[in-house]
Amino acid sequence: AIQGFIFDVDGVLTDTAEYHYRAWQRLADEEGLPFDRQANEALRGVSRRESLMHIIGIRQYSEAQLQAMMERKNRYYVESIATITPQNLFPGAIELLTELRQAGIKIAIGSASKNARTVIEKLGIGNLVDAIADGDSVEAPKPAPDLFLYAAQQIGLEPDRCVVVEDATVGVRAAIAAGMRSIGIGPITRVGAADIVLPNLIGVHLVDLQAQLKLAPE
Ligand code: BG6
Ligand code: MG
Repeated sequence: AIQGFIFDVDGVLTDTAEYHYRAWQRLADEEGLPFDRQANEALRGVSRRESLMHIIGIRQYSEAQLQAMMERKNRYYVESIATITPQNLFPGAIELLTELRQAGIKIAIGSASKNARTVIEKLGIGNLVDAIADGDSVEAPKPAPDLFLYAAQQIGLEPDRCVVVEDATVGVRAAIAAGMRSIGIGPITRVGAADIVLPNLIGVHLVDLQAQLKLAPE
């Protein structure tokens, strides 16, 4: 049976995937680098450095310049999350987290973001999570399984007892690589590889997920 849930944050619990996009767009515009919402699709769930590498393409920059650009993007992003409150939780999120808690399910955060802890605190759900694995927890970014394996370890569970909730293609791939079940939030084109694909967290209940996951191939 499932004993733990590992939630990605950006694009799963709240709309910060959009804030990341806007911060990258601002940086790209300032640098005169071609970038748009379509190009941003490839950045979903991807680490800060890898995201920047994607955006600069074949242009050459020194390490110092890369660092400066990553810091600038992060400054824009941090500014944008300053106003986050529990109101910014996606519909259905608090209900699901509460239900899982009451059912005795362990809850971990598995986010590539170094800002994940701040976002969780601002969303007011710190008391609902047992462990946080974030952008500072492991070296290898998603789609490597490392972050989710680390999260499972933090809540004391074997990977096959855990379900990952993700909105990114690389995140679903990381869950599969970790030997975990997965719930993809969003379009099939993005998260179609997940065991269960849902449009959002509204009306999602543990019993239904358990039933559907049993039907999914081991
Ligand atoms: C992921 C986001 O959760 O975190 C990415 O989906 C982001 O868009 C990545 O680039 C790293 O975030 P941060 O806050 O460490 O730059
Ligand atoms: Mg995400």
